Amino acid sequence: MHRELNDVEHFDDNLETLVKDMAATMYAAQGVGLAANQVGEDFKVFVFDCPDDDGERVTGVVCNPVLILPEGKDRELDEDDEGCLSLPGAFASCARPDVSTVRGTDHTGAPVEFHGTGLLARCLQHETDHLFGMVFGDRIPERARKKLYKLHKQLIEDYPDDWPASITPL
Ligand code: NI
Repeated sequence: MHRELNDVEHFDDNLETLVKDMAATMYAAQGVGLAANQVGEDFKVFVFDCPDDDGERVTGVVCNPVLILPEGKDRELDEDDEGCLSLPGAFASCARPDVSTVRGTDHTGAPVEFHGTGLLARCLQHETDHLFGMVFGDRIPERARKKLYKLHKQLIEDYPDDWPASITPL
């Protein structure tokens, strides 16, 4: 999970199938986002279905994302619990900018841009991080990280080895 993935170069049927499988896996696991490396694929693509600060559901596919975060006086951190389908059941508080924008393309290669507030701002950052080889545990203080992985170790016995790739979509 700590390796940057390859750019998507071919917007073909294989990619469409991968995206559909990823969405099915995300829904079955009741996640708000899923990155390709979480199901063992080596391409910069994530899917999401996540509410923003107004409770509005936003869904999408982003290939080759570029994340844009506020800087200077516009940058405000939001500290909230964060989880990951690769660490099922384990949550930790993680500070992140409270708004984010991601630009990329959809699975057909058409440009897309998503602007997120609330949980969606967090989700867009979390999923883009995955594709660049970073997990949210890397973004929290060492003590909290140790606690998070300890909790994960206790909980992981309840999940199959290849979770979430192994779960059967609903
Ligand atoms: Ni995750």
